[in-house]
Amino acid sequence: MYVVKTVKEAKEITRKWKSEGMTVGLVPTMGYLHDGHLSLIKRSVADNDKTCVSVFVNPIQFGKNEDFGSYPRDMEHDSALCEQSGADLVFCPSAEEMYPEGFCSHIEISGPAEGLCGARRPGHFNGVCTVVMKLFNIMAPTHAYFGQKDAQQLAVIRRMVKDFNLDVEVCGMPIIREADGLAMSSRNTYLSAGERKAALCLSHALKEVKAQFESGERDAAKLKQSAQAVIAGEPLARIDYIEIVDIISMKPIDRLAAPALCALAVYIGRTRLIDNIALEVLK
Ligand code: PAF
Repeated sequence: MYVVKTVKEAKEITRKWKSEGMTVGLVPTMGYLHDGHLSLIKRSVADNDKTCVSVFVNPIQFGKNEDFGSYPRDMEHDSALCEQSGADLVFCPSAEEMYPEGFCSHIEISGPAEGLCGARRPGHFNGVCTVVMKLFNIMAPTHAYFGQKDAQQLAVIRRMVKDFNLDVEVCGMPIIREADGLAMSSRNTYLSAGERKAALCLSHALKEVKAQFESGERDAAKLKQSAQAVIAGEPLARIDYIEIVDIISMKPIDRLAAPALCALAVYIGRTRLIDNIALEVLK
């Protein structure tokens, strides 16, 4: 497995593969890999001739008061996990390599980026799209893999790929959960033992929404209330948002008549966690 830090090396290797007619899967990550990331890598390895993993904590997608500095990092462990999972190349550039002196171009995205996390984290999705566009240009993947846990990010990337006619198939992969239901996230490492227990209120709330939905409830306000009630029972939790949105536009809906998503962001202590569940309305 190649481990490369420069754009030049990453380009040379992937362009050679492409010139030989190979399919190339890309799994963009910020590292501190967990089973959720590994499921993406393994899917890419199964689907493609070659698999690249990028490990880059992207400074421009973090707000001023967010956790860029404390975001967990362990490059050695990440490389070992990539190798065990069958990856062919790990691209782990420095911030200077990605954003050299004079860098001044950005993607600006609206539409599905406007609500939910986009409204609470101004500029976040512009930063995500800018780095993902760069990664696509550097490694020219035929397929790119993103987790459904960041459902809004997935919708935003799909929109960007469509808008810019990019030649890459975006593959959304299911959320991977711990045995007790907590969605896997590198940020779970911030949680104390008590907070870890409290964090279960996210998946419990979504389970309740799904149960109500399956028993026929289609009123989004009522579904949201059922999630709020579960989270209100957890003293360490503070709701950032709970929304029922259209699965493509990410716009809030009042009544469920098409595939939708219940998405939530909840602070557990100082840690902000997100999770979601699909509500499949059959047309
Ligand atoms: O989902 C992430 O880890 C990041 O937002 C991504 C897609 C790697 C871009 O930095």
